[in-house]
Amino acid sequence: MTKIFQIETFSTFQVYNNENVCEKGDFNMQRNNYGRPAGPSGRKRRVKKRRRTIRPRAIVLGVVILIIVAIAIGWKSLSQSSTVEEDQTDQQSVGQSEQSDSSVDEDVQQSEPSADGNAQPSETAVDGAASDSEPDIEVVDGLTYVNGILIANKSYSLPADYNPGVLPEAQSAFDEMAEGAAKDGIKLYIASGFRSYDYQAGLYQRYVERDGAEMADTYSARPGHSEHQTGLAFDLNEISDAFAGTPEAEWLAEHAHEYGFIIRYPADKEDITGYSYEPWHVRYLGKEIAEKVYESGLCLEEYLGIDSVYAD
Ligand code: DAL
Ligand code: ZN
Repeated sequence: MTKIFQIETFSTFQVYNNENVCEKGDFNMQRNNYGRPAGPSGRKRRVKKRRRTIRPRAIVLGVVILIIVAIAIGWKSLSQSSTVEEDQTDQQSVGQSEQSDSSVDEDVQQSEPSADGNAQPSETAVDGAASDSEPDIEVVDGLTYVNGILIANKSYSLPADYNPGVLPEAQSAFDEMAEGAAKDGIKLYIASGFRSYDYQAGLYQRYVERDGAEMADTYSARPGHSEHQTGLAFDLNEISDAFAGTPEAEWLAEHAHEYGFIIRYPADKEDITGYSYEPWHVRYLGKEIAEKVYESGLCLEEYLGIDSVYAD
């Protein structure tokens, strides 16, 4: 039996950082050289004087040499010690520099969201992909960005008063996609675009009344948790299981990423996305990220490394 989901559609879409030790001995010698008459005794005295003066002088020289040697050894030792400290300082500087770089990266990651609902791309999150590290989750005005990508799923909700309407980038991307599809003989149209918190509340409530909350939670988002409220998602053509396998659904699965969209709730990913297969529900991510998600073969939660589970 064919299940018909969310048949309600919108009739209007909101597009939308010294030794001059002139020692006594030397001094006397000079005086002798200039004023004293030459004679043996004079020489003898001079020699004695020299010996007297030489000894202390030798001692002084010795002491000076010792001092020089000691200073040299001490200097060498100090020099080596200083080198070690400088090395440590350099290493610390390198570490601080790396920390600074990552701080810069963090600052970049905390940049403001852009008009298309995604944060400006940073060095580390340019493609939004999850790495070995934890995903970078940032909440701005109640909106949750994971690696720069606005997220609305069972784990992350939107403020009730968030009413952006359909974001113009998403609408333009759809128009371009519809045009590309038309060239292949495929007609695409929007069956459901932006849905406000209140509208989703009514819709979800009706499904709960019809199928019970447990079942409704497998195909309809609780209010505040629908991607339709981001203004970046569309349900295309036929919102029913009958859409699967149609030429339109197959064209969409094969080409949507080329226009910046992904099939948000793929088959066999129900336990990760939290929702059953919806071949008609596309989410706009921009061409670069959509292409990477598509090539990864992962659903958005896997790609970003996040969950989609209600808290209660
Ligand atoms: N059908 C999707 C999960 C929604 O209600 O947003
Ligand atoms: Zn949908």
